[in-house]
Amino acid sequence: MADTQLMEKIVSLCKRRGFIYPGSEIYGGLAGTYDYGPLGVALKKAIQQSWWQHFVTTREDMYGIDAAILMNPRAWEASGHVSGFSDPLVECPKCHKRFRADHIETVDGAKHCPDDGTVLGEARQFNMMFKTQVGATEDPTSISYLRPETAGGMFVNFKNVVDSFHPKLPFGLAQIGKAFRNEIAPRDFVFRLRELEQMEIEYFCHPSKWEEAFEHLRQQFNMWLLSIGLPKEKIHEVEIGDGDRAHYSKRTIDFEFDFPIGQKELAGLAYRTDFDLKQHSEYSKTDLSYFDEETKERFIPHCIEPSVGVERALLAVLTSAYREEDVEGEIRTVLSFKPSVAPIQVAVLPLSKKDELAKPARDIANTLRRIARVSYDETQSIGKRYRRQDEIGTPYCVTVDFDTLTDQAVTVRDRDTMQQERIAIADLSSYFQGKLA
Ligand code: GAP
Repeated sequence: MADTQLMEKIVSLCKRRGFIYPGSEIYGGLAGTYDYGPLGVALKKAIQQSWWQHFVTTREDMYGIDAAILMNPRAWEASGHVSGFSDPLVECPKCHKRFRADHIETVDGAKHCPDDGTVLGEARQFNMMFKTQVGATEDPTSISYLRPETAGGMFVNFKNVVDSFHPKLPFGLAQIGKAFRNEIAPRDFVFRLRELEQMEIEYFCHPSKWEEAFEHLRQQFNMWLLSIGLPKEKIHEVEIGDGDRAHYSKRTIDFEFDFPIGQKELAGLAYRTDFDLKQHSEYSKTDLSYFDEETKERFIPHCIEPSVGVERALLAVLTSAYREEDVEGEIRTVLSFKPSVAPIQVAVLPLSKKDELAKPARDIANTLRRIARVSYDETQSIGKRYRRQDEIGTPYCVTVDFDTLTDQAVTVRDRDTMQQERIAIADLSSYFQGKLA
């Protein structure tokens, strides 16, 4: 069930508080693009960092890479994107607006324009890759594409990583980066974008071990979703049937999430078989097989791919953290982020702007910056400042008051319980260290 009101509140909060702005807003915007403000970029980076930490830094079998966005166009011919990365497009013969045919219901045997009700024409396939020209000459040989998924950059670097690191199977390549899709109908805030970011892993294994690897990554992916604060009951694993999967996949599970716009795809886990390495071997005329030193077997590894859009993860985090509560007759808006992903983890608030409190407060903020994302705020009443921090999801506020000058302690307020406790300045770093992970 869609919750339009909640979505509107989130969009408005994001703009007002400096999380997310419409792309190139002062020029009237550009559909399907958004710009991140200081809090949005902090939230996005915290989500990316937690993914990287979970899947790369803490594991022996993962190799991070950062491949170029522009690739030799042959790579996209090999992957099947040039011929097949398309969505069905329909145009209204009256208003000439264009829609994705599969987003419009068929009523009495026909699809109708959502704006004026005219019967729509035949659907045609529309390739979603952004074409561009590389170099100074504009001819067919200089055409390239902005990558539509980060995966391609990992398949073409498979041999490089094998040659440099000699990893034993199973192992994975991991990448976070931009991808571009000329979506027919970008919509629903950052849910469907033309410029997006993906966090993807290509996990290679022996062909006989793909089910084991699939199950392992499925569990790990669920663990990561919970670690960024998504409620278990809002996550739904959906097995994608034959005919509905991408051309490269023999099995796919979509992780759907209860967004305010309804239950929609958040992420996917696909068994891509040996499709990509085989295709890239053939098109590049490079041997992408793997030699197992122990069994003396040579083969093309199979691949499992967990893939998630950064913006969809961020939207899931934002929408599930949002709540409004009645506090003594007033509405308190709270983003109850997990401290590990909160854009600001600790706000330092002196009770007065005067130097006698502002100076020690700034010193405390600077010390805490070594272990946390910290903001310093001395404007308006303390009550208003608490509400402002609640609304942007800051889990802890440190208040420096006149007693601080004598007892060398501060008040720490918890966002969720609104309870306050007195902590010695000397103990603050160790107090927070355990709480922010
Ligand atoms: N490499 C596999 C792949 O790209 P996908 O299902 O097309 O598969 C993976 O995309 C994830 O990327 C999706 O689950 C979603 O989180 C995100 N994504 C895809 N298209 C998107 C778009 N237009 N806007 C925002 N996120 C998108």
